[in-house]
Amino acid sequence: MKRKIALLLVIFFMKANLSFSQNRVDDLMKKMTLDEKIGQLNLLSPGGTITGTMQNTKVGKKIKNGEVGAIFGLKGVEIIKKYQRYAVDSTRLSIPLLVGLDVIHGHRTIFPIPLGSSCSWDMDLIKQSAQIAAKEATADGIMWTFSPMVDIARDPRWGRIAEGGGEDPFLGSAISRAMVEGYQGNKLDDSKTVAACVKHFAAYGAPEGGRDYATVDMSKVRLFNEYLPPYKAAVDAGVATIMTSFNVIDYVPASGNKELYIDILRKKWAFEGMVVTDYTAINEMIAHGLGDLKKVSQLSLKSGIDMDMIGEGFVKTIKESIENGALNESDVDRACRRILKLKEDLGLFDDPYRYLDETRQNEIMSQENRLFARKMASESFVLLKNEKQTLPISDSKKVALIGPLADSRRNMLGTWSVSGDHSKAVTVKEAFEAWLPKENLKYAKGANISDDPIFAKKVNAFGKEIVIDERSAEELINEAIEVANQSDVIVAVMGEAADMSGEASSLAHIGLQPSQTRLLNELKKLNKPIVMVLYNGRPMTLNWENENMDAILDVWFGGTEGANAIVDVISGKVNPSGKLTTSFPVHVGQVPVYHSMLNSGRPELGKYQKFKSNYLDIPNTPLFPFGYGLSYTTFEISKPVYSNTNLNAGNSISVSVDVKNTGNIAGAEVVQLYIRDLVGSISRPLKELKGFEKVFLEAGESKTVTFKIDEELLKFYNSKLNYQAEKGQFEIFIGNSSNNVTTQIIELK
Ligand code: BGC
Repeated sequence: MKRKIALLLVIFFMKANLSFSQNRVDDLMKKMTLDEKIGQLNLLSPGGTITGTMQNTKVGKKIKNGEVGAIFGLKGVEIIKKYQRYAVDSTRLSIPLLVGLDVIHGHRTIFPIPLGSSCSWDMDLIKQSAQIAAKEATADGIMWTFSPMVDIARDPRWGRIAEGGGEDPFLGSAISRAMVEGYQGNKLDDSKTVAACVKHFAAYGAPEGGRDYATVDMSKVRLFNEYLPPYKAAVDAGVATIMTSFNVIDYVPASGNKELYIDILRKKWAFEGMVVTDYTAINEMIAHGLGDLKKVSQLSLKSGIDMDMIGEGFVKTIKESIENGALNESDVDRACRRILKLKEDLGLFDDPYRYLDETRQNEIMSQENRLFARKMASESFVLLKNEKQTLPISDSKKVALIGPLADSRRNMLGTWSVSGDHSKAVTVKEAFEAWLPKENLKYAKGANISDDPIFAKKVNAFGKEIVIDERSAEELINEAIEVANQSDVIVAVMGEAADMSGEASSLAHIGLQPSQTRLLNELKKLNKPIVMVLYNGRPMTLNWENENMDAILDVWFGGTEGANAIVDVISGKVNPSGKLTTSFPVHVGQVPVYHSMLNSGRPELGKYQKFKSNYLDIPNTPLFPFGYGLSYTTFEISKPVYSNTNLNAGNSISVSVDVKNTGNIAGAEVVQLYIRDLVGSISRPLKELKGFEKVFLEAGESKTVTFKIDEELLKFYNSKLNYQAEKGQFEIFIGNSSNNVTTQIIELK
């Protein structure tokens, strides 16, 4: 009885609190003029992050005039406080600003790029990274991050593939949830959590030709089954905000797309949070051919968009559109209310300076955070090849550390690390110096990342990432050969500069730059073991490297502590356990290649045959498939045991495997479950990831992994976009990579 009363009291107070907050927003709305409401819809940047046309920056003045509801692009308590004061002290109703920033893979302590961290397949780790990022960001005055980016991407030419979790919607959804939960915690008004913003809704990761901002066009069936799930997962996890994408969907730009933002987001998914556009995305609808600024702003507001990033289409045109009847004031009210609700939820009306606490600076880049970054980086690395146990390397070996990324601090953090301080990143050379006795380490640059000054200039938009040496290519190579000659093993640190991936960094050639292949060719002639450590923000074509290198460790961009993590793995202190989350094509002409493709009516047969779906010159399969990654130890996965092979609706069956570490050192294996729906009302993918579990095992240890299969797991969107499972046979695959599985047929009755 007592418990019941307590529960009722809790419910009463929760409801009272809710209505109190709603009342506060309502009361405010009643006092606001139309101009003040429109001002709330405006998001500007006083400086800092610029990813499009530089805008007029008289932001302070505009805030004082009540023309701004939110800002982004700043960090630091002092400067943000200055802007917050403009809003609180100088506007009639003292409505505080919302303060956002692109906190993408860590705030000041930088973690691996998202594509890298996805390869950890470790959701707790990913969640924790978002928690730490939130803590550092809030200590720096930020309360809203433009993350996670959950755009499914299957085209490595697209530079922003680096910012997401790869090609798969199931894994992408798990990452999306983990990130939102990590950023937002249990309470938005906790001064150590931030509001998340899932982006870019929708399907921004599928531009034609891999060119950023280009046309996206796909069937609804594909959109719903393969591209929308990670955004939906964020909504289900309670994400506070959503960002639009630059692309069109069904020929309508996302920022003016009613179907996306009203029919799907609001009606189907019941999202109640706030929607912000991407950078000048409303204005860009003019170039898309949808009309002038007034017209596209109307379209955007009517499509359910609430806040306008940078472009000021809303502040400049909405009032006139209301006056001439093209818009209703209620459209503005709806958007304004959502923005105020977010401010209320963040606790800004109780204390506008809640996130502006000078005493929290010690929470930024703490030793603890750096240690976490180091662990996370090592978990993101994928061991692609390791012949004759070239890795790990003992510290008694003489090592030649060679390559354009071996001594480059500027490239360690990777793309989209706006608050990262490059000077605080460890270089690979420094990490090697700390590990090896002096006499066992020699270094040479060996090559430039690229020898092409025009290309270098484009990549260097944010700073000197590609430094073209004054010495000639021959001189660099000769020095490298001399160093290599004195060694037992060569560690070649090769790959991309940080901003060869990321926004507006699409590439047609996704292999190593010619300057680097030339160096590797020369090193190969020395007949010494070569370990290639690869920096990359995208899957690359690595056929020659795979044939000629003894070991390849893909380290993506590991962040502040990435280099120390490289030594942890190379020295054997840490056993690599990452698995690819995007397929690595054998050739760029194979793109897109991914594990969940549909079958052809004329499937290839493993070797070329006329009138089959194959290439004359390359195989269909990728070089390294989704889910693939090696370890220093060996694992055995037992034959799966099924509780039943018939599944009745409403029930579930379980399938278990024993995973055993059969080697001599501890390690981790990712057990993966894939399913193929054999007969459907529409063609269904060859294989879809439907479960995974990462298990840590001591040498000799074994653990049982159990997956549950129920009707829910077998559901998909059919051609009428109904989400349902269809009776019949399903093939179940279990293994440690999408191409290394055992199979079993089950039947849904
Ligand atoms: C990007 C977004 C980013 C925004 C603000 C845009 O160019 O597409 O991902 O959040 O800029 O910096």
